[in-house]
Order: sequence, then C-alpha cells, then structure tokens
Amino acid sequence: MPTMSSLLTAFDKLPIPDKKGSYAIFASGPMAVRGLREPNDLDVLVSMETWDGLVKAGFKPIPKPEGNGFKIHAGDIDFFNTWVHLTPEEVLSDIEKIDGHWYGTLASVRKWKQLMGRDKDKTDIEIIDKYLAQGKKARIAVQNYIQSFLVEGEEVTNTFDKCWPPLNFHGAAEITKTVVTNPTKSTKIPEGHFKKDVVGDSEKYLQSIIPLYEKDITQDAINKGKTPDPEKIHASAVKQAEKAVHGHKGFLEALKQHIKPGSKIIAPGSGFGHEQMLAPDYKWHGMEYQEDLLNMANQRNKMVDHHSKNYKWSFLDDPEEGMKEMGEGWEKKIKGWDDIKDFEGHHPEAIYLKHACGGLTDASMKKAVEQKIPTIFIASCCANRYIGVSHKIIAPDMPFKEYEKIVSRSGNKTSEDGKKAVEEINDMRKKYLKEHGYKIASSGNTVHGPYFVAKL
Ligand SMILES: C[S@@+](CC[C@H](N)C(=O)[O-])C[C@H]1O[C@@H](n2cnc3c(N)ncnc32)[C@H](O)[C@@H]1O
Repeated sequence: MPTMSSLLTAFDKLPIPDKKGSYAIFASGPMAVRGLREPNDLDVLVSMETWDGLVKAGFKPIPKPEGNGFKIHAGDIDFFNTWVHLTPEEVLSDIEKIDGHWYGTLASVRKWKQLMGRDKDKTDIEIIDKYLAQGKKARIAVQNYIQSFLVEGEEVTNTFDKCWPPLNFHGAAEITKTVVTNPTKSTKIPEGHFKKDVVGDSEKYLQSIIPLYEKDITQDAINKGKTPDPEKIHASAVKQAEKAVHGHKGFLEALKQHIKPGSKIIAPGSGFGHEQMLAPDYKWHGMEYQEDLLNMANQRNKMVDHHSKNYKWSFLDDPEEGMKEMGEGWEKKIKGWDDIKDFEGHHPEAIYLKHACGGLTDASMKKAVEQKIPTIFIASCCANRYIGVSHKIIAPDMPFKEYEKIVSRSGNKTSEDGKKAVEEINDMRKKYLKEHGYKIASSGNTVHGPYFVAKL
C-alpha cells in the first residue's frame, strides 16, 4: 500500500503548478496527511488550466467507471476536473497549504462526506469530528507557544510527516504551518548553568537545541491530548538537552583519540548537526535528506563560524524499499550507489556514523570501505530502518527472517537481551570491516549507547 510520503513524491514529479487554486488534494488526502487514516491513493481536483497542462504533457483522460466524466490516472494518483456534489470552485477555494501541498480543508471534506453519506463517509466524519474537538484547545495553546519562538522573517514549515525526528502528531492539524525551522531565538539559560567541561562550544550549542526539544515535548503533550505547560516543558527540555550533550561528548571524545584536529569528517545522517557545534575543530561534512534539519545545521555553522557544511543527500530513492528483503540487483535500488562520489570528492579522513538509521549505517560503511576511508566510527541506531539494506551487507548468508529476529530483539535497547542483540549486529559489522582490512581500534559505551572505531 502506498504511503502518503511516496504518493506525494510521485505527485511532485508531475507537471502541476504550485499556484493557489490550481489543484486541491481532496477525499482521503487531507485526513491522511494528518495521520487520521491510511491513504489508498491520492484523489486530486484540478483547475481546467492544470487539467489542460496534464493533457498537453501526454496524460490521457479516461472515462470514470461511474460514467460521469473523465479522470486522469497517474500511478496511484487520480486527477479530476469535476467533483460529485461540490463545484470545482467550492473545493478549490477552500484549501490550505500543508508542507508544500494544497489540500481541501477538513471542513470541506466533511461537507462532501456528509453529502455522500456512505458508511465509510460516516466513519470518516466521526474521526474528523473527534479530531477537531480534541485538538482545538491544545492547538491554540501550542500555536501561541511556537509562535513565541519565531523571529521576524523566520521561515516556517511543517515537518510532521517526516520519519525522523518523530514529529507525527495527530492533534496538530491547524498548526502545521507554524513549526519553526530556524529557532534562533532560544529561551535564556542562566549564566553558568551548564558545566564547561563538555567538548566544543556547548553553551551556544545548548542555546540552539533547547527550543528543538521544547518543540518535540510540546508536540508530545498534544499527542496525549494535554495542554502544554511552557514552564514544565522548558525544564524537561533543558534536562534532555544536557543528556544529549553528554551523549555526544562521549562519542566525540572517543573519536578524538583517533583523528587529528582539522581533519575532514563526513557524517551521513547528520541530522541537526550536533557534532559540528560540539567539535568545531574538525571540518564536518554533514549529509542529510531532511531539508529542515539541513537548514538548522547550516545555521549552526554560522554560529560557530567554522568551515563545516551540510549537504542534501539521500542514500535511498525509496525508503520503503529498504524495509523489504532486497533481492538481486539490490545495489541499483540505492540512489547513486555506483557514484556516491560525495565521499570521494570530500576526501574525508573519517566517517562518523552516529545513530545513522540501520541500513544508512551499513550502506555508508560499505561505501567507506570501498573508498578506503581510514577511520570509521559507528554508534548503532535503530536497526529496523532499511533492514533489507543492512541484511544484504552485513548478513548476506543469514536467512532474512533470522536477521529480522535479531533486529527485532535489538529494539528493546534497555533490556539485557536487547543490548546483546545490538552487540550481535555490531559484531557483524566488525566482522565485515575486519574482512576488508580494518582493525577495531577501540570500542566502548556512552549514555547514548555503544560505539566502536575501526582503522585501516
Ligand atoms: C537518528 S538520527 C541521528 C542524527 C544525528 N547523527 C545524531 O546523532 O543526532 C538519523 C538521521 O538520519 C537521517 N536519514 C534517515 N534516512 C536517511 C536517508 N535515506 N538519507 C539521508 N539521511 C537519512 C535522518 O533524517 C536523521 O537525521
């Protein structure tokens, strides 16, 4: 079944103008984008101009099975120029932009569903009503709260349906436009609150991450149907930020034992770019596929004024693909596998795979080995992400189901068995590296879990 994100990726490849009124994702789309139901497909009403554009681009209108007009079929996306019970003008004027796409409002969907009156429409109306009632009060509180972090001219976007960080929360409908991408205006931290014993410029770093934790905790509160209390949220964010610094500190200090200051290090799956703030004496080249995280990371570079950079880079065309058992020709499914030249072009002295989700770690490790990067740092993350990729690289002789079982055990990171499973996965990586001429130079544990360093 397609996911909302795969449907939108397919949609973005089609010749659809972004202009307000040129299209509206309707029917189940506005519910699916909020996580209220699964999207089976995407139904899109388009203006006549957009319709003509699609026809000119070679898409052929076909009669609708119901016999009332035509539709254009593009994979899992259907385009219409009329809509049952509502006029195109009604639908196309009652829209809102969520994460870069135009959707009919929930009110408009509700109205249409009421007119349709099928059983599934009644069920959907119940879901919409419950959702709107639950979220309204909390949404207003959060909206005001998040707004307080915005500074003039700051960009805002929606990051809710991205897979990481886990920002998916269903009570957030109307605030999707107000998630801050560049939260530069952070809450004031009392002077001397943080010990200066951490690596790098931890004070500046903390200033920049506390609002991010506040945002996550706020969203979590909404998820649970609670009205967020800014003071409590701040206190909890400070705690989490401190923990993050200490976690990163452990890893970075381990890395520092092996690499000279000034070295170039690539960090696939770099996220917010913690390391460049905490270890600014290296040239970090962060690689990340989430645009908003990249923006934040690059903004932090400016704060510490050094030469690190973050690049948009996705190692897999289709993240869903990596979840499956990958058959013959699997490397072809990995975007640019043959020419992940980024690594070479960057001439890194080390690769830092800190909590790079499952297969992202293994694909990057394999590439680093092929390109003879002298130092490889690995700290394990959720191994179930892109499990098919990992399996092909580190456990090709083990039946997929067996590997899956180890990964499933590793999910429970706090249990002894979970820790053992993480160790088993790391042992497979170590074996792979040894077979390719690397030595395990050190390994250890931090408050953020285990790590090891391999040297050529
Ligand atoms: C668990 S986070 C770790 C972030 C950072 N290294 C840290 O420790 O704070 C994993 C990161 O990998 C990124 N990522 C996941 N899949 C990716 C892909 N296919 N291509 C590039 N980056 C990806 C995520 O967006 C996320 O920022």
